Amino acid sequence: MRGGVVLVSHDREFLARTVTRVLELDLAQHTNTVYGGGYESYLAEREVARRHRREEYEEYAERKADLQARARTQREWSSQGVRNAMRKNPDNDKVRRRAASESSEKQAQKVRQMESRIARLEEVVEPRKEWVLEFTIGAAPRSSSVVATLNDAVLRQGEFVLGPVSLQVDAGDRIGITGPNGAGKSTLLRMLLGRVAPDSGSATLGASVQIGEIDQARGLFTGEQALAERFEGLVPEFATADVRTLLAKFGLRADHVGRAVDDLSPGERTRAALALLQAKGTNVLVLDEPTNHLDLAAIEQLESALASYDGALLLVTHDRRMLTNVNVDRRWRLDGGRVSES
Ligand SMILES: Nc1ncnc2c1ncn2[C@@H]1O[C@H](COP(=O)(O)OP(=O)(O)OP(=O)(O)O)[C@@H](O)[C@H]1O
Ligand SMILES: [Mg+2]
Repeated sequence: MRGGVVLVSHDREFLARTVTRVLELDLAQHTNTVYGGGYESYLAEREVARRHRREEYEEYAERKADLQARARTQREWSSQGVRNAMRKNPDNDKVRRRAASESSEKQAQKVRQMESRIARLEEVVEPRKEWVLEFTIGAAPRSSSVVATLNDAVLRQGEFVLGPVSLQVDAGDRIGITGPNGAGKSTLLRMLLGRVAPDSGSATLGASVQIGEIDQARGLFTGEQALAERFEGLVPEFATADVRTLLAKFGLRADHVGRAVDDLSPGERTRAALALLQAKGTNVLVLDEPTNHLDLAAIEQLESALASYDGALLLVTHDRRMLTNVNVDRRWRLDGGRVSES
C-alpha cells in the first residue's frame, strides 16, 4: 500500500508488524511524543526516556534537599549567634558584642545566599507515576475435578450450527481458544457455562464451580444504572467505600462511578469487569476477548494476574502476544462450528 496509514491499536503483534512511527499520547504527563522506528524500538526508547526523566528528577530533588538542609543549619547558627551576643551583653564588652553580631550578620547573609541558590535551581517536575494496576484474580475454593462436559452437544442459531461436540474441562486446565470471526467461540462458551442448553446432546457443569467471566459484550456493565450502583449490586457484601476504593484502583475514579455504565468507554467497562474478577472468588475463569479495548498497561497487568491464577482458564483471544504470554496447556480451534483440539 502506497498511501499513509494512521492506525490506532492495542494489538501489540499487529503494531510490531505494521507501523514505522509511533505517536504516544500520555494522559498522565499530558504530553505527546513521536517515536521513529517501529513498535519494538518505540518500547525500547520509551523505557530509556522514562528512566532519564526519573533520574533527572531524582538528581534535582537531591540537590534541593541538600541546599535546604544547609540553609536550615545556617539559619540555626545565625540565630544562635544573636542569642550568644545578647547573653554576652552583661560584660558590656562592645568589641565582642560587635564581633558577635557581625558574625551573625554573616551567617544571615549565607542563609540568604543559600535561599537564592535554591530559588535559582531549575525546577524539574516530578514525572507523574503512571496508572499501575496490581491485581489478582480472587480465588474460590477448588471446584470438583471435572468443571464442565459436553456430550455430542449441538446448538443451532439461525443458519449456524455448533457441534456436535464432546469435550471435558478439568479443574486447573488452561485452554486457549482461537478461530475466525463467527466460528462459534462465544457460542461454545455460552453452552459450556450452561447459559444456553444444547438442542441435542448434553451439557453439564461440575459441582462448586464458581464462574468468573468477562464476556465479549461486557454484558454485566451495560445499561442506564450508575457504575457504583451496578457494582455494589454485584458484590452486595462490599461496603460502598470499599467499592469506590476498588474501582479507583482500576482507574475508575469519582468522575466515573456516578456515570451510567453505558456512558463508559469500552475500556472502562472492561476494567470494571476486571475489578469484579478481583472482588469475587472464581475457580473457572472465562475470558472472551479480554484485551479488546484495554490499553497496553492494563493488558500487561492482566497477563501477570493470569500467571498467578491457578483455577481453570478458558481464554478466547485474537491477541497473539497474549496467547504466547499466558501459559495455556490446551488449544481448541473452532472453524464453522467445529471444534478441534491440538
Ligand atoms: N442470536 C443469533 N441468531 C442467529 N445467529 C447467531 C446468533 N448469535 C450468533 N449467531 C451466529 O452464530 C455464529 C457464531 O457466533 P459466535 O458469536 O459464537 O462467533 P465467534 O467465534 O465468537 O466470533 P467472533 O470472533 O466474532 O467473536 C455466527 O455466524 C453468528 O452470526
Ligand atoms: Mg465471539
